[in-house]
Amino acid sequence: MPDLFDPLSIRDLEIPNRLAVSPMCQYSCEPDGLPTEWHRVHLGSRAVGGAGIVMTEATAVTPRGRITPHDLGIWSDEHASGLEPTTQFIREQGGVPAIQLAHAGHKASKTQPWEGNAPIAPEDGGWEVLSPSPDAYPPFDGGRPAMTKATQDDIQDVVEAYRAAAERSLAAGFDIAEVHAAHGYLLHEFLSPVTNRREDEYGGSFENRSRIVREVVDAVRDVWPDEKPVFVRISGTDWLEDRESWDIAQSVRLGEDLADRGVDLIDVSSGGLHPEQNVPGGPNFQVPLAQAVSEGADIAAGAVGGITEPKQADAVIRNGRADLVLVGREFLRDPYFGLRAADALTNDAASRWPVQYRRGVR
Ligand code: FNR
Repeated sequence: MPDLFDPLSIRDLEIPNRLAVSPMCQYSCEPDGLPTEWHRVHLGSRAVGGAGIVMTEATAVTPRGRITPHDLGIWSDEHASGLEPTTQFIREQGGVPAIQLAHAGHKASKTQPWEGNAPIAPEDGGWEVLSPSPDAYPPFDGGRPAMTKATQDDIQDVVEAYRAAAERSLAAGFDIAEVHAAHGYLLHEFLSPVTNRREDEYGGSFENRSRIVREVVDAVRDVWPDEKPVFVRISGTDWLEDRESWDIAQSVRLGEDLADRGVDLIDVSSGGLHPEQNVPGGPNFQVPLAQAVSEGADIAAGAVGGITEPKQADAVIRNGRADLVLVGREFLRDPYFGLRAADALTNDAASRWPVQYRRGVR
């Protein structure tokens, strides 16, 4: 089995190690979706800090797909050129730049978390959010926004927005495109029977509920070069065992479908759909979900959630439980977590540190 610092080859891309910065919203744009100095420093520091993959926050494919008016976006060429210096810098540090492409669905049009996550009405600068079934909306945090049911035209617009976003991401210099289909946002809202009560070909059976995800993935794969990987982040389960919901068996089935369509890795998170979810939490709590998807669907998987220590991350890889470890909050606490992990786990940490920092190697 490889270890955390063994390179990972997917298609023609060599990722220098198996540690990734998990996508984390910064809610720090002016209300235009353009990256600021904050994004450059935030993502750039983590590339200096030794992450093999540095992934952007959920980056909205349309203005309506933002969680807050301050989310990053990729719906115009100006957004792509704004991101280019960051992808270039990440690559100069030896890292791989990745972008998470997102549509927030019915969890959109909210204030930033530090402003209370409250719905913003259209007349106050918000917008009508898109939902597979507005009547099924569980007010997850902060209440119910103004909502419209997605028509089939809306669905096709979303698919095309993902295609255009992938094309722009490529122009911006990203090597990996990750489709965000987790955490109760638009694509997960379609997947889960809890939030999808539609009776057309986008609701009902597994086949129908997962149709939009297949269409989005096909559109992204269509424009994303064959030599570059596509990832999909899913919620492995809704953690709602007391009702008909999205679960690990459906995640495995989706993983099989997506592997057939040229997806290279499933990034397995969980939950985020409903306030009554029963999430266990704790160290490695989602690792079993990643392992189940990987083994059940015969596809590479990323593990995320509660991974905070170098040895712990290394063990996930060495024990063959996942192919990639994504770290979120530990990378907020310590942008140099990757260098710390190299110090702890390798005998050649110095060669992995930026030349400018080598006098700091222990
Ligand atoms: C997140 N998370 C997240 N997930 C995602 O898929 N897209 C996103 O944009 C965000 N945004 C975000 C912001 C912040 C501030 C946090 C803390 C988290 C979830 C994140 O990627 C990760 O899956 C979880 O934090 C669990 O991993 P850790 O933090 O236990 O390593």
